[in-house]
Amino acid sequence: MLSKGVELMETLLKLLDSWNGPYAGHSERTSRYAVDIGTELELPLDERSDLYIGGLLHDIGKLSVPEYILNKPSSLDPEEFELIKQHPAKGYDLASRFPEFGEGVLNIILHHHERFDGTGYPCGLKGQEIPQSARIIAVADSFDAMISERVYRKQPHDRKYAANQLIEGRGTQFDPVIVDIFLELLTNLEPPCNTNYSQSCKGGMNDV
Ligand SMILES: [Fe+2]
Repeated sequence: MLSKGVELMETLLKLLDSWNGPYAGHSERTSRYAVDIGTELELPLDERSDLYIGGLLHDIGKLSVPEYILNKPSSLDPEEFELIKQHPAKGYDLASRFPEFGEGVLNIILHHHERFDGTGYPCGLKGQEIPQSARIIAVADSFDAMISERVYRKQPHDRKYAANQLIEGRGTQFDPVIVDIFLELLTNLEPPCNTNYSQSCKGGMNDV
């Protein structure tokens, strides 16, 4: 039997997906990318489990953001962006009420928008100060966001564009080691996945 916390989070994730038509499935794909990176790094099972659960829950705080802002087709104004920026802390507050979500999962929820150069949010952590799990999710999250449809961008970017953006953000937005590992994983997938990963490889890297 699932714990109360996991059951509640699954329900909340379904709600979040229903708010975000084009966004649906993003959390699960982020989880799968992250676990594949964790496997490549030979992380222990409990840390890979945190990556999976944390990947699913990383944006749970967006339930506190008004739906019209999440689905706004045009640019956000500064006030709206400030509200969006609260979602890691709000998600952390929500998840921390459940003892089944330990520090590893909570770190992912709170820190997945930190940037490697220290200019991210909510804490402005820099480099290795950012928990490794959150650095992994940042790469997986950004890649999937780029190759997925968005309300403000009907045509998803292709994988090559997304990979180039990760390279551009190497050492500034992203941990360079994790970018390199992820790009290597993508290269290995090139033959069966020469279009959009999210469409052609829904099961995740290990399922191809
Ligand atoms: Fe987020």
